[in-house]
Amino acid sequence: MQNSLDRAGLDSDTAPMLAWCYRRVLRPVLFAQDAEAIHDRTLAGLGWVSRHRAVCRLLGSLGRAPGLPVERFGLRFPNPVGLAAGMDKRGEALPAWEALGFGHVELGAVTALAQTGNSLPRVFRAVPEESIVNRMGFNNPGAAAAAQTLRAWRESGGWPRHPVGMNLGKSKVTPLDQAAADYRESFRLLRSHVDFVVVNVSSPNTPNLRKLQDKAVLDEILAALQEENGESGAGPGTKPVLVKVAPDLSFAALDEILELVEPRRVAGLVATNTTLSRPVSADPRVRRVYAEAGGLSGRPLRTRSTELIRHLYRQSRGRVPLVGVGGIFSAADAWEKALAGACLLQVYTGLVYEGPFLARRIVHGLKARMAAEGIQSWDEVVGKGT
Ligand SMILES: Cc1cc2nc3c(=O)[nH]c(=O)nc-3n(C[C@H](O)[C@H](O)[C@H](O)COP(=O)(O)O)c2cc1C
Repeated sequence: MQNSLDRAGLDSDTAPMLAWCYRRVLRPVLFAQDAEAIHDRTLAGLGWVSRHRAVCRLLGSLGRAPGLPVERFGLRFPNPVGLAAGMDKRGEALPAWEALGFGHVELGAVTALAQTGNSLPRVFRAVPEESIVNRMGFNNPGAAAAAQTLRAWRESGGWPRHPVGMNLGKSKVTPLDQAAADYRESFRLLRSHVDFVVVNVSSPNTPNLRKLQDKAVLDEILAALQEENGESGAGPGTKPVLVKVAPDLSFAALDEILELVEPRRVAGLVATNTTLSRPVSADPRVRRVYAEAGGLSGRPLRTRSTELIRHLYRQSRGRVPLVGVGGIFSAADAWEKALAGACLLQVYTGLVYEGPFLARRIVHGLKARMAAEGIQSWDEVVGKGT
């Protein structure tokens, strides 16, 4: 829906000014504080906004994006730009994301058991490269508590109109050979509260989690989830199950995961999570951050994540819905991912560096590009560059 600011034609004047204010004024103040502390404060602030309808509506008048609908795995997304997992683990600020223009959110990661994650500090900014290294380790209140938060939003009428997904991780204390039961328990508790789930076997911050990307092990996890979903995983009331992959996987390993898509009715792939690799940097401040253990996100991840998307799109002949995430900071980055084959997109680090109105800016930019190229529908863009 085109909102009043668009109709008044203020957007072209206001958006660059808001972006400038964020980068030049607000961001330096925020970045003077510890990365995780400011994340928690911002989320608490957005949680407050979410609980006050009038304030949330006001935020929506600045942040809501124009429509650019996408339909995939039985869900209708008002626009392709979503919030990536890790930003709002249990949905503390769920209504605020819609006000900020997002077309879906992926909450989580949530695990079956509540856990505190790794010791502090565990989030590091490399500002000159516009990247982040994190080793959070799935700090979260557990699937039961997350379900309670979601139930409360529904009951209060704060539930957004866009799809809500949940990223599922493995509890740290659960041995690898019991991973399937652990994911299944989270799914059982959360299934009825969300529109889709994403099996996260690609975080680098839980010991050995990435081993679950091996075909046989992943097959066992997906079988358990689809059993919980109902016999075939395809009937009415079943929830789409997606898999999130690491950018460090070889193309051969990705092809093995693609082989599971049909038999296990995987609704789509999310590409990608953070990377263990590090670019070379001459800047000593960046080198210090890159020496920290954890996963790297942001600008340096952009190209690798797009390469994976292009490969997955080509290998699957465009038949598997792909959610593109990794280093999206602008409409041009989003366009590149869509041309490579991503029908949906997500941002995390871009939001930290570019500010709260990034989703709206990207959707505007995508629509402008489509108009300039005489393209009528988003589906015509997806995979056009492969
Ligand atoms: C602090 C932080 C926490 C994250 N937590 C999760 C998580 O819990 N589950 C997950 O699948 N991805 C998580 N991610 C990865 C993001 O969802 C995303 O895949 C990655 O950061 C690449 O996108 P970006 O370059 O836009 O940040 C996290 C990223 C960051 C920076």
